[in-house]
Amino acid sequence: MPNIQTIHSCSKCGAQYQKWQGRCNECGAWGTIHENIKTLKHENNIPPDKPINLGQIEDNSQMRLKTNIEELDRVLGGGIVLGSMILLGGDPGVGKSTLGLQIAQSVENTLYVSGEESANQVKIRAQRIGQNFDDFKFLAQTNVEKIIATIKDIKPKLAIIDSIQTINSNEYPTGLGSTNQITASTSQLLATAKETNTSIVIIGHVTKEGYVAGPKTLEHLVDTVLYLENDNQNHYKILRSVKNRFGSTGEIGVFEMTASGLKEIIDSASIFFEDEDKSSAGSATTIVMEGSRPFLIEIQALTAKTVFGYPQRKATGFDLNRLQMIIAVISKVAKLNLSNQDVYLNVAGGLKIKETGTDLAVAAAIISALLNSPISKKTLIFGEVGLSGEVRSVSQTEKRIKEAQKLKFEKIIIPKNKNLKNDSNIITVNNIQELIKKLI
Ligand code: TYD
Ligand code: MG
Repeated sequence: MPNIQTIHSCSKCGAQYQKWQGRCNECGAWGTIHENIKTLKHENNIPPDKPINLGQIEDNSQMRLKTNIEELDRVLGGGIVLGSMILLGGDPGVGKSTLGLQIAQSVENTLYVSGEESANQVKIRAQRIGQNFDDFKFLAQTNVEKIIATIKDIKPKLAIIDSIQTINSNEYPTGLGSTNQITASTSQLLATAKETNTSIVIIGHVTKEGYVAGPKTLEHLVDTVLYLENDNQNHYKILRSVKNRFGSTGEIGVFEMTASGLKEIIDSASIFFEDEDKSSAGSATTIVMEGSRPFLIEIQALTAKTVFGYPQRKATGFDLNRLQMIIAVISKVAKLNLSNQDVYLNVAGGLKIKETGTDLAVAAAIISALLNSPISKKTLIFGEVGLSGEVRSVSQTEKRIKEAQKLKFEKIIIPKNKNLKNDSNIITVNNIQELIKKLI
């Protein structure tokens, strides 16, 4: 006998509750919770499913569609895996549709579906990008069942859906753009991708809070999640992968929006770095790795005498706990008194540091600020700092050094490392005390 269960779910975010309530605890919306009736079927004679032997499955994760947009291919781990589904998210206006169009133009046999723009608008944009679009298949459609039927009919290698917020499914006649609509459309598209081996890119708008228009809830459905975002100066567009079932998530791609579409920035090591000759106290230059790419970063520290209460420690772009640890190490091991100093740390350029390789430069910047002794802009510092003041090598040391030498740094201060060749501009240190001696 069917068992009937009543649940209440929010039409905005999909959160479920046992009882009705006026306001959704998850998204804070009022009056969006409605009663749903769910029928639970209890059947005793369910036929068993047959597991398959994984050894007999052909591995097609190696079969990738190259987009020939080098920055994108690298972020994806070598191209788009056949039959996979990619979510391309980002703030409105960041350049998602432009990137989608550029992908469509460089991958043969692509279907571009737009629920936002007419064929004419898309054509004008394509002309602006200036590539060939004779073979460009375009569909202005918002109904997912229609889109799927078209994919099955013309069998494209790749389909780009712009954007998932405008797509609706017959399964839910109401609530255009609601989480239910978006999730239902995405799961149908996902099934189509797996069934037809067509790769699908869905574009989704996200606001700064991340969650709002739905894509966050899609992250677990799709194979790969890419976000296109503006850097802090609004100069470059950074493409990041936050989830990738077929590659690493550390890689980033860098683009610039030009009058003729997105341009790749291949040599991007210095994009976050302002190259002025003037050295000032409290500033140290370091190099971080984002995946396999090096980026130069300026670390800025300011120390100021505490006027009231406890000394302040503030960090922008750097982990506050790590900053406090480095301050404690400098105070204890190097005997520099920071207990009556406020310390402010800033990572210039707006990158958020996630690795420990910048510790040594952070320590150097604080020491330089405290002693009011500038560090040359031609000096590069990197390494990890341990609790007893010792310094340790970090991953991809050789790659970082190579980049630094290419960028003509005169001095490179790093932890001792027996695998390194002697080089006249490399200065190695064992601990914080030695760092101070090398700095002043
Ligand atoms: P768009 O790709 O429409 O952003 P999204 O789909 O993420 O909302 O484009 C973003 C901006 O880029 C838009 O303001 C116009 C500008 N743009 C250029 O500067 N050059 C170009 O060649 C194109 C196509 C757009
Ligand atoms: Mg768009």
